[in-house]
Amino acid sequence: MSEQILSVRDAIMQRRSIKKFNGQPVEREDLMAIIDDAVWAPNHGNREPWRLVVACGKEIVDLHHLLRDLTIPKWQELSSEDLAKQMMKFTLPGGYAFVIVPEDARQKERLEDYAAASTFIQNIQLLAWDRGIGSCWKTPAFLDNPKFREALKVQPGERVIAMLQVGYFDEVPKGRERKQAAEIVTVFGE
Ligand SMILES: Cc1cc2nc3c(=O)[nH]c(=O)nc-3n(C[C@H](O)[C@H](O)[C@H](O)COP(=O)(O)O)c2cc1C
Repeated sequence: MSEQILSVRDAIMQRRSIKKFNGQPVEREDLMAIIDDAVWAPNHGNREPWRLVVACGKEIVDLHHLLRDLTIPKWQELSSEDLAKQMMKFTLPGGYAFVIVPEDARQKERLEDYAAASTFIQNIQLLAWDRGIGSCWKTPAFLDNPKFREALKVQPGERVIAMLQVGYFDEVPKGRERKQAAEIVTVFGE
């Protein structure tokens, strides 16, 4: 608590998805501390329907190789310069957290679990922001690729719902305008 810098309101309003990281690594212990707090997200029945696979230490190099193989099929044909350029979207983040949820056979529970995991992810993003760590929730198609699932040891009945790239940044992008409450609210009965 004493470490908190931002108010909840400021964290929600000031957080932006960071898509340009500066390459500074994120310490594993910072990521773990963020996750330790983020688990206080609402979730029905206290199912805590989430687990994560993280990479932010020396293991990140193997992850880069996996992402390269999955997303740049003919990478061997590129010059090392071109490859490095194309890989920057993967190599500049200082860490990764892949969020895995159970896929309950019951639709209500499955939706609840996805919703709960989404609040958990938002918690991670806000808590990271409070520590000066940016993040972006990404949903690239390869999250469902069998090769990717195998590399992360994702089990049948589980789904990877998010690639969270985390890291440090030099610039905060400008947020897009949001609709005001008056534009999205109707009063019951009117
Ligand atoms: C479920 C979900 C999936 C997203 N997937 C991507 C993505 O694949 N690539 C990406 O660049 N941003 C992705 N984003 C981030 C959004 O682009 C970003 O939240 C949006 O532009 C609003 O910007 P802000 O987060 O800075 O307010 C995703 C966000 C959510 C909630």
